[in-house]
Amino acid sequence: MKGDLLSMASLQLSPTNFPSCWPAPVRRRCQPVRCAAGERQALFDRIAPVYDNLNDLLSLGQHRIWKRMTISWSGAKLGDRVLDLCCGSGDLTFLLSEKVGSSGKVFGLDFSKEQLSVASSRQSLRARPCFENIEWIEGDALDLPFPDSYFDAITMGYGLRNVVDREKSMREMLRVVNSGSRISVLDFNKSLQPLSSSFRDWMIDNAIVPVASSYGLAEDYAYLKSSINDFLTGAELEKLALDAGFSNAQYYEIGAGLMGNLVATR
Ligand SMILES: C[S@@+](CC[C@H](N)C(=O)[O-])C[C@H]1O[C@@H](n2cnc3c(N)ncnc32)[C@H](O)[C@@H]1O
Repeated sequence: MKGDLLSMASLQLSPTNFPSCWPAPVRRRCQPVRCAAGERQALFDRIAPVYDNLNDLLSLGQHRIWKRMTISWSGAKLGDRVLDLCCGSGDLTFLLSEKVGSSGKVFGLDFSKEQLSVASSRQSLRARPCFENIEWIEGDALDLPFPDSYFDAITMGYGLRNVVDREKSMREMLRVVNSGSRISVLDFNKSLQPLSSSFRDWMIDNAIVPVASSYGLAEDYAYLKSSINDFLTGAELEKLALDAGFSNAQYYEIGAGLMGNLVATR
């Protein structure tokens, strides 16, 4: 059954799940994700049950708008085969699913079993016919189980900041996206303007961490501030994409400069 977590554990991408005109992805067992990533994996497993509620609370629902912009920038269209990397509980995956429709195919990939479990339950609860086009994959964004040039578009929401090797993640996206197709990468904007970054840090300390602590997750969300500070600016993200081999890269600040979206074309 599509979306069945049991079938995810070993990355069983049965060729029968694919229309015959599509090459089946490389069959590869899910390798244990490297130790350095283990703590992050555990963190995302831990926050999975409350992740969606917190997103709504902490962004006052705005993340839904930013995610729609990410989908639009990805260029995904009816009938496309697309990938949502670091899909978490599946917000972008579901939007992609609606965009590509029943004639398309969507893969939502994440290394957190718990996040994928939430995503799969949401799929069953919402039960929209087009959601049949979704396949959940437990896997590593740094070692994608897909052939070269396999996707018509790729999205990644709040994932690039969290992977342990951004260059490798970018190279993997380049490898699996079609020539002329786009990746659309949403995340916090690491602004260099002192006012913006002070405001962002103040929001994290005085709004995000206190709300997260009411869920017993203060420490997990305190990680957010350091992860944004360790992240790349818009210009650095554009350079990362171009250095990886994308032919074009453009960064857009959104959400009053709190968020940003990198759009790169292979
Ligand atoms: C902040 S969540 C974002 C979830 C979702 N994309 C969203 O926008 O709501 C980041 C996700 O990245 C996943 N992640 C981090 N590193 C990963 C990796 N190397 N491979 C696969 N997933 C990864 C985590 O498990 C987590 O679900």
